[in-house]
Amino acid sequence: MNEKERIQEKLSAIKDPSNERTLGENDAFRHIGLDEEKQAVTVLVGVANEDDQQAKQKLRREIATILKRDMGYGGVSIDFEPLKKKESILGKGKKVKYIGVASGKGGVGKSTVAANLALALARIGKKVGLIDADIYGANMPVILDMPIKPPKSDAKKRIVPFEKHGVEVISTQFFMDEGKPLMWRGPMLSKMLNHFFYDVAWNDGIEYIIIDLPPGTGDVALDIQRLIPECRMLIVTTPHPSASSVAVKAGFMAKELKHELLGVIENMSHFDHEGETLHIFGKGGGETVADKLSTSLIQKIPIARPESGHHSLFDMEEEVGLIYLGLANKLAKTLAS
Ligand SMILES: Nc1ncnc2c1ncn2[C@@H]1O[C@H](COP(=O)(O)OP(=O)(O)O)[C@@H](O)[C@H]1O
Ligand SMILES: [Mg+2]
Repeated sequence: MNEKERIQEKLSAIKDPSNERTLGENDAFRHIGLDEEKQAVTVLVGVANEDDQQAKQKLRREIATILKRDMGYGGVSIDFEPLKKKESILGKGKKVKYIGVASGKGGVGKSTVAANLALALARIGKKVGLIDADIYGANMPVILDMPIKPPKSDAKKRIVPFEKHGVEVISTQFFMDEGKPLMWRGPMLSKMLNHFFYDVAWNDGIEYIIIDLPPGTGDVALDIQRLIPECRMLIVTTPHPSASSVAVKAGFMAKELKHELLGVIENMSHFDHEGETLHIFGKGGGETVADKLSTSLIQKIPIARPESGHHSLFDMEEEVGLIYLGLANKLAKTLAS
């Protein structure tokens, strides 16, 4: 038996008060790290209820006692994660690539970009999930033209996502009474996000998760950082300074939180009319944002033609749809390397 196994054995009889099972029974050991030189040990333990602070305190005390008193370690550091993380999508590690779609302002087309990018990735053969994390302004089901009804749960009581055009979708809108506003506070908001990441029965082979973030720089951005620090970000703006100046702020926040920026998308960039390119919402917003964030403007998306009869989902045969296919290919290539 090596030293790590010995540690695990010593700790395995400790009981997790939040489910009255031992750490051994819970199969709770996620990581044990040793620094022989410094006689220090770090342990990462899965807990049944991550919100149960008392339980965690008790566990911390009992683990430290055994490691220090019985095993003679000098330095001990103990971290916790939810037990269910391992079985959730967050337990899949680098196999899943997360792309957050952020903007400063609402109404710039963030959700439209998230939805069409998800569809385009699916179209080029990727397994894609779409999380509507704009909890208050959730409208992904409407954009995707999906019926609004509560999702079913599977045998393990996990939420089964709905599917549209080959993309798995989850949104608070599915859980809401139509037309009624949501009056939740911050902590409930982050619970909802936890559910989306820990308790949804996503397809096992999922490769991409696209996250439609709320506008601005609020709590959800912090929660995303906590749950998926490796989430990469796309910043959406329009060409207008009113949008680009706030998009820069959202970009800076993402950078501050150490997210990799994939680049800037300038939506509603122009409109082609009778051979002329009209800059209806101004010019230069995308470049400005990319410059200020030291990233690149990776895509301009024109204003959709009114005769197409829709502004939300684009057929992959029409101009804007083809642009999304190109964007999906570009991102898939970037993220493959
Ligand atoms: N390229 C575009 N051309 C025309 N209309 C668009 C385009 N992108 C988005 N829209 C429309 O603009 C509105 C706002 O888009 P939405 O994606 O809901 O923005 P956000 O999520 O940033 O609030 C929607 O009605 C959407 O259909
Ligand atoms: Mg939106």
